[in-house]
Amino acid sequence: MAARVVSLASVFLTSSSSPAYPSFYSSHLLRQIPCFALTLTAKSFPGFSSSGRVMSHTVAMANLGLTLPSIMEPPKISFSAKDTDVVEWKGDILTVGVTEKDMGKDENSKFQNPILKKLDAQLNGLLAEASLEEDFTGKAGQSVVLRLPGLGSKRISLIGLGQSGVAAPAFRSLGEAVATAAKAAKATNVAVVLADSEGLSKESKLAAAYAIASGTVLGIHEDNRYKSETKKTTLKAIDIIGLGTGPELEKKIKYAEEVSSGIIFGRELVNSPANVLTPAVLAEEASKIASAYSDVFSSTILDVEQCKELKMGSYLGVAAASANPPHFIHLCYKPLDGPAKVKLALVGKGLTFDSGGYNIKTGPGCLIELMKFDMGGSAAVLGAAKAIAQIRPPGVEVHFIVAACENMISGAGMRPGDIVTASNGKTIEVNNTDAEGRLTLADALVYACNQGVEKIVDLATLTGACIVALGPSIAGVFTPNDDLAKEVLAASEISGEKLWRMPLEESYWESMKSGVADMVNTGGRQGGAITAALFLKQFVDDKVQWMHIDMAGPVWNDKRKSATGFGIPTLVEWVLKNSS
Ligand code: BES
Ligand code: MN
Ligand code: ZN
Repeated sequence: MAARVVSLASVFLTSSSSPAYPSFYSSHLLRQIPCFALTLTAKSFPGFSSSGRVMSHTVAMANLGLTLPSIMEPPKISFSAKDTDVVEWKGDILTVGVTEKDMGKDENSKFQNPILKKLDAQLNGLLAEASLEEDFTGKAGQSVVLRLPGLGSKRISLIGLGQSGVAAPAFRSLGEAVATAAKAAKATNVAVVLADSEGLSKESKLAAAYAIASGTVLGIHEDNRYKSETKKTTLKAIDIIGLGTGPELEKKIKYAEEVSSGIIFGRELVNSPANVLTPAVLAEEASKIASAYSDVFSSTILDVEQCKELKMGSYLGVAAASANPPHFIHLCYKPLDGPAKVKLALVGKGLTFDSGGYNIKTGPGCLIELMKFDMGGSAAVLGAAKAIAQIRPPGVEVHFIVAACENMISGAGMRPGDIVTASNGKTIEVNNTDAEGRLTLADALVYACNQGVEKIVDLATLTGACIVALGPSIAGVFTPNDDLAKEVLAASEISGEKLWRMPLEESYWESMKSGVADMVNTGGRQGGAITAALFLKQFVDDKVQWMHIDMAGPVWNDKRKSATGFGIPTLVEWVLKNSS
């Protein structure tokens, strides 16, 4: 608190051109308090690898828990596409992606696959022997490592790809396994080769290189910003062998790096706890993207007053109980080369914390301690923005929209049973304050439609029901538009993310009727992900193509205790499909 008071006084002194008489002091300062205190907080927590702005520690002490993320330079790994002979390659680890089919042996128990055969001959049969002893059959998730003193490569690692005919997810896992092997061996340079890339078309080779490069960069990344001691990655260089060489492949690898930087940014946003990543800090992080790429990006951040003017009663109702005021975020990407042919909007749920409100999350399994991830949709949107800023697709305009806030409890908060009025005039009886995401998205969707966009994709950690339906790693897709479904699902095939289309069953709207308002915000337990999607649909213009993605499951990786960055590669792919 002390730091706040001091800073407010200094703002008053520095920003005021008028003499500081008491009346001006009191009225002006009162209006300044909410606004400036926020800016202060926002600037106080750097540490997202995209940024790197260091702030004075005296100011930073104002935050709850005194936690400051450390600023981590993202590891710089350089990729080269080569056609080196595998037995000639020199370095720390040669990793070979192997399918079950590649492991086939001839009648003399020798490998038939040319690359494995060649390596095994060089090693006097050690490769065949070791893989047999270690039960390595090429199944996905398997790996075997040989240390080879005196040879060009210090180690050879076989990594299982599963059955033959593998696609993006297997290649991404291969990249992750390469990262794991590199970390374990503290390697500085590694090579990746597929045992069999003969049958791959040029397109498939490019896609494989993209997936391997992304997998490696993401596998190497560890979010250590909140640990007092940090490990440094040793890996510096990766040679991708046998998938071609030249500018096209290099471009693809650069694209993988750009998308990965967006994914890492998104993961860091989600991993950040709610005492650090407040709505103001999220807004500040968004603004930083816009100012770092100001030739193609602009940003608008609306405060409470501005949202009130836009009549966003549904969003502001959710935000009302929090000491951390809401910030409505709107970034806009416009291509350099003249007017865009298509206008898109990406809308993300941005609850920096979801306590449930008066319908507080209680009991085991309610996951209240994980509800910092309830801004996963906004992280997907802003991660995509960061990638798009670097890729600069032509012919497409993209709006990135987040109604960021926190769902808390206080005497000023929304009660169960309250009626809120959204910016399109529709009234909502809030029969459950824990169904807050849809309330914030309602006003965000109305705002998005007012930007004159043709297509909107929204992403949200919206319902536990969607996790019940599809499990932890598949997102639910809801859209009345078959063309848009096709587009986005095709994009997810390339990105390797798991999306599954769900029905928008209009008859279920019955359960969303209110006796006193236009609708309630919560139907029954049954079909909870569907009624949530039907609710959102009330706030979308019929002329606009719209899709809702419920990513409550895939936002978080339980095993790794970390965010996934889900949605970002699919969104980027979709935006590129719409560019010309
Ligand atoms: N953020 C939650 C959804 C959620 C729950 C995401 C668990 C990930 C894990 C959302 O705001 C919520 O609380 N939804 C309620 C809706 C219900 C009250 C209709 C839910 O799913 O229980
Ligand atoms: Mn909730
Ligand atoms: Zn929520």
